[in-house]
Amino acid sequence: MARHLVNLSLYLLSFITLAIAEVKTGYIPFEYQGSTYQTWYIAYTPEVHPPWHRPLVALHGGPGLSYNYMVSIQDLASNRTVIFYDQIGNGKSTHLDTKPNSFWTVDLFLKELESVIDFFGFDSFDLLGHSWGGMLGAEHAVLRPQKLNKLVLSDSPAAMSLWVQLESQLLSTLPQDVQDGLMVGFSDPVRYRAALTTFFLSYGCTVQPWPAPLNTSFDALFANPTVSIKMGPILSNWTIVDRLKNINVPTLVLSGSRNVTENTIIKPYLDWIREVTHVEFQNSSHTPMWEERSLYMSVVSAFLG
Ligand SMILES: *[C@@H]1O[C@H](CO)[C@@H](O)[C@H](O)[C@H]1NC(C)=O
Ligand SMILES: *[C@@H]1O[C@H](CO)[C@@H](O)[C@H](O)[C@H]1NC(C)=O
Ligand SMILES: *[C@@H]1O[C@H](CO)[C@@H](O)[C@H](O)[C@H]1NC(C)=O
Ligand SMILES: *[C@@H]1O[C@H](CO)[C@@H](O)[C@H](O)[C@H]1NC(C)=O
Ligand SMILES: *[C@@H]1O[C@H](CO)[C@@H](O)[C@H](O)[C@H]1NC(C)=O
Repeated sequence: MARHLVNLSLYLLSFITLAIAEVKTGYIPFEYQGSTYQTWYIAYTPEVHPPWHRPLVALHGGPGLSYNYMVSIQDLASNRTVIFYDQIGNGKSTHLDTKPNSFWTVDLFLKELESVIDFFGFDSFDLLGHSWGGMLGAEHAVLRPQKLNKLVLSDSPAAMSLWVQLESQLLSTLPQDVQDGLMVGFSDPVRYRAALTTFFLSYGCTVQPWPAPLNTSFDALFANPTVSIKMGPILSNWTIVDRLKNINVPTLVLSGSRNVTENTIIKPYLDWIREVTHVEFQNSSHTPMWEERSLYMSVVSAFLG
């Protein structure tokens, strides 16, 4: 009973203050194949929070972006610790521009995630991945990790073929010079960035003007495209569909349907994950954490508990 009262008062306090007490950044040593790299993280911790709220780890997309564009998710840190990190190879984490192609695998990013989880010493945590971050989150979840409590897959394809299919449909709606600009890729970064921005203004983030952190992540991508260039071919035939039945934690799948329906790319998650909930954001394309920010936070918060 006494314990209960303490919990309750903590909860009330957190509700009243709604304060993020501490923002901490640092580096996590990441040992991989005999070398040690640095993973940069930023952790938002509320002053007081109900003890039943687990820490949330956020996985950014790309691959090859930085955490910045997901930072609106810090809204959830009025109730729980929220941890973001720059995935290895970009942002403030170690850049690895001279590694052979064989170095770049999904396993690399899985091991990095495990290193982050070990560093903080969680007993139990929740995981939210956006786009490629959700693919990575699903890869983690199919291994049935003991500490994983709940999973959120935001705007993530369950197979690259589904993504490619959607992307080519969307591309066909854009002017020829934009389509060509997307094809040239990082061989002509100025043209590529212009084309990618045009594409993203319709199908990525329809908020005007763009949230500055989204620009920051684009800046990081173009300042160092190594991860994007190296991981592209590796993910070209990626699928997790036949492994989804292994996921044994409650999972929330989020998709957007403004200008573009993401329902085709997420469908296997709904078909194969045992305990799954789907929420569709009618006024969002690919970044509902900005396009419908407060709704997104209340949906995720209600699911995580
Ligand atoms: C905080 O938690 C309470 C109750 O658990 C919930 O009503 C509220 O929406 C949460 N706020 C955020 C920002 O997650
Ligand atoms: C997508 O939505 C935005 C915001 O309403 C609008 O400005 C834009 O024209 C739309 N693009 C397409 C291709 O429908
Ligand atoms: C939908 O999103 C656009 C762009 O962010 C915004 O201007 C508009 O007010 C939103 N509409 C609704 C109904 O939320
Ligand atoms: C962010 O990028 C968009 C699209 O290119 C641009 O319109 C906007 O001015 C940029 N904002 C900032 C703060 O750089
Ligand atoms: C993708 O292709 C590579 C080589 O081309 C192969 O080793 C790998 O098993 C394939 N992956 C899937 C999921 O089919």
